[in-house]
Amino acid sequence: MRIEDPKIVAALPELGVELRPGTSLADLTSLGIGGNTDLLRIKKHEVIPDLLSLLDTNHIPHRFLGGGSNLLVIDGDLPWVVLQLVASDPDIVLEGNFALVDAAADLGRTVTYCAKNDLGGMEGLIGVPGTVGGALRMNAGAYGMQIGSYVREVKLYRAAQRRIELLRGHQISFEYRHTSFAPDDMMLSVKLELPSKSFKEILQGIRICNEKRRASQPLGQKSAGCIFKNPPGASAGRMIDELGLKGLSVGDARVSDRHANFFVNAGKASAIDMHALIADVRERVQKNFGMELENEVVFWNA
Ligand code: EPU
Repeated sequence: MRIEDPKIVAALPELGVELRPGTSLADLTSLGIGGNTDLLRIKKHEVIPDLLSLLDTNHIPHRFLGGGSNLLVIDGDLPWVVLQLVASDPDIVLEGNFALVDAAADLGRTVTYCAKNDLGGMEGLIGVPGTVGGALRMNAGAYGMQIGSYVREVKLYRAAQRRIELLRGHQISFEYRHTSFAPDDMMLSVKLELPSKSFKEILQGIRICNEKRRASQPLGQKSAGCIFKNPPGASAGRMIDELGLKGLSVGDARVSDRHANFFVNAGKASAIDMHALIADVRERVQKNFGMELENEVVFWNA
């Protein structure tokens, strides 16, 4: 989608919003898949209500993008513009055991920055790509921990109320890869409370998680992490592996040889290829194990 109305194009810089016309979502997602649209980069949280009312009154649909690491976007000319926050500087401020973190901050950098300041707890998240906002929305977790456990406050734009609000931790529910945020809520910043630990001890935890991840996940390849959630009491990766589906391909979309719940873009996979592969694997698991796998990756379809 293109913003062509000169009045809107002129209004954007006044809001401190940078317009990047015709941006490829393949370049902004870890899967390297997705069509083209106008990207709007937001530098100040306060302008979001005005920006969204400008888009709404002009009937311009939009989607919010975090780090693009858990996302499968359709191909072609996308029917919405994409909004993305630019991280503030500094994007992490520490106050005792609290870390005030911008939603646009890189998750890995946040974990290491806190570690260097003797704040731990998030060691398991070290290899998870993406932004803190994306991790919050999905309640990202690994190796027995999840980010939601440390959340004390979240500042967010609530699309339904059309305003910026502050939620306390107890007002949000964090479950396995699921939160009570509405799909159109936009994470802006978070206050985390982290346990004090020595850098040395945190580093040891980080090393162990890194080793486990390197041994079991296809880290150098284009993927969106695990495609399916684990059903209660079962492992999606193990079931797909037991069916002998590692290496199964549709075009360049391929079930990883290393971890069967990672589907990789081995070249120039299209969204259609990836969706066909996902549907095929889902059907086979349903047929053989009687389990309906739920997506872990977010789909941006028309
Ligand atoms: N397994 C296989 N074959 C495979 C993959 C896994 O037999 O191809 C077996 C493993 O041997 C193990 C079990 O399945 O016994 C579970 O595998 P693993 O330890 O790799 O964990 P997972 O349940 O597949 C989850 C998260 C990951 C997270 C890891 C580590 C989900 C959907 N996935 O994977 O998160 O990194 O645990 O904590 O919850 C993600 O969310 O994108 C993601 C990668």
